[in-house]
Amino acid sequence: MAGKSFLETAVILDTRLAAERTYISRLRSPQIVPIVEAGQFVMVSFQDTLDPLLPRAFSVCDATGDTLSILYVAVGRGTRKISGLFPGEKLILNGPLGTGFPRMERGKNIWVAVGGSGAAIVPILSRSAGKAGSELRFFYGARSKSQLVPFEISAYTAHATDDGTAGFHGNIVDLMKLELKGAEPDMVFGCGPTPMLVSMQKEFGNRIPTYLSVETPMACGMGFCQGCPVKRSGDADYYLACKDGPVFRSTEIEFEVKP
Ligand SMILES: Cc1cc2nc3c(=O)[nH]c(=O)nc-3n(C[C@H](O)[C@H](O)[C@H](O)COP(=O)(O)OP(=O)(O)OC[C@H]3O[C@@H](n4cnc5c(N)ncnc54)[C@H](O)[C@@H]3O)c2cc1C
Ligand code: FES
Repeated sequence: MAGKSFLETAVILDTRLAAERTYISRLRSPQIVPIVEAGQFVMVSFQDTLDPLLPRAFSVCDATGDTLSILYVAVGRGTRKISGLFPGEKLILNGPLGTGFPRMERGKNIWVAVGGSGAAIVPILSRSAGKAGSELRFFYGARSKSQLVPFEISAYTAHATDDGTAGFHGNIVDLMKLELKGAEPDMVFGCGPTPMLVSMQKEFGNRIPTYLSVETPMACGMGFCQGCPVKRSGDADYYLACKDGPVFRSTEIEFEVKP
């Protein structure tokens, strides 16, 4: 459930290019960092300007000391602008928002599939699994090797690329299916493009507890605008991705895939 959140003016400490068009910015955020949980997000807006007009949602990538990181692919107006800010400049953060991944328990074995900017959750999940005593295996997919961020984590990480330049040649769910023949995890988490989540729901949703972080576009991030509906499975009703999610048990939702 969504809990306490803050509107915080956060100073940029640094920004680095971590992979092709992919940046990690670290910000000083002493109010949000102590209470954020893996899978929660922040809404980011700019100081003294309404360009872009709407804030952008970013999963919290890491949170340690008083420093919060976001990882983003510079695809459009918001992300290109953030990547061009200098240390000392400020962003407005609203967060932590939403419902993150379920609590990890000691001794549990969790497989995590990430793709594209969904890889943002890798550091914060590793950190919380370390505290909880859970064992994570990451399955990290990208179009090509140049788009894979080399995370410094101790957890097992298998890669898959569409063009075969690193790891398994193919998609990440096919790789997980191959590895599943030898072992069965206690839970599966996913964060990435909708086709990846749809495939995870189909392959694992009915036999392994599977939790998916949806990428529904958001305008307010706080349940006000009703602009982030996610279809509930089994009835005509909708959840709100920003409040009820973005992480859902896969059996709770239906993806409305456009033809
Ligand atoms: C809960 C949640 C968490 C998110 N976490 C992250 C995160 O950790 N890192 C991150 O980078 N993004 C994340 N996003 C997406 C993010 O909010 C922005 O939509 C995205 O970064 C693009 O913003 P922009 O202003 O640069 O692009 P815009 O100017 O809004 O869009 C420009 C163009 O890029 C397209 N576009 C948008 N996103 C992508 C994409 N991922 N790949 C290719 N094209 C795209 C749009 O369709 C549009 O055509 C998250 C979204 C949600 C809802
Ligand atoms: S983004 Fe406004 S209600 Fe979810």
